Amino acid sequence: MMDFEGEVRTKSAQETAALGKELAIQLKTQNAELNDQKRGQVGATTICLYGELGSGKTTFAQGFAKGLGITSRLLSPTFIIVRRYQVSNTSDFLYHLDLYRVGGEKDLYDIGIAEILADTGSYVLIEWAEKLTKNLPEKRIDIWFTVRENGKHHIKIRQTKI
Ligand SMILES: Nc1ncnc2c1ncn2[C@@H]1O[C@H](COP(=O)(O)OP(=O)(O)OP(=O)(O)O)[C@@H](O)[C@H]1O
Ligand SMILES: [Mg+2]
Repeated sequence: MMDFEGEVRTKSAQETAALGKELAIQLKTQNAELNDQKRGQVGATTICLYGELGSGKTTFAQGFAKGLGITSRLLSPTFIIVRRYQVSNTSDFLYHLDLYRVGGEKDLYDIGIAEILADTGSYVLIEWAEKLTKNLPEKRIDIWFTVRENGKHHIKIRQTKI
């Protein structure tokens, strides 16, 4: 599997969305190449998004959805916590979560976090993923969004090695 690593500055929301789209296209290609046996072992493809309010997590997620061919508008899930979209021409889903308002284990259980993360073939994008604490899957892609004092947006991507 190829690695997603590195840090970039995006000069606009469009650039951030384009990066999300690119990652989705790469992951979708990889997913299509996995045979059923491997798919049985991997669970969902999980991408954890970290960063302060307004740093670009939802913007990235919107581009990601486009990369999967999802044409419906991706809304911020803030009040609903999780939204599910069908990936075009597949039986897979994109789950978009925003855990900002999640208090603890009970809330995570109520949204069915274990079932979502176990949904092999599907994609899970999690804003405020640090709220998962011990529920964080070992195999995941972590993405940090930062806005520097000069207002410049930076995105750092790392894939866990397991
Ligand atoms: N380079 C950039 N990348 C991403 N967003 C940018 C950039 N430059 C400006 N913006 C603006 O910053 C805002 C990012 O908002 P977004 O909803 O994506 O943040 P968020 O991290 O999801 O916040 P929240 O934690 O509240 O959900 C948008 O208004 C976007 O237009
Ligand atoms: Mg958001």
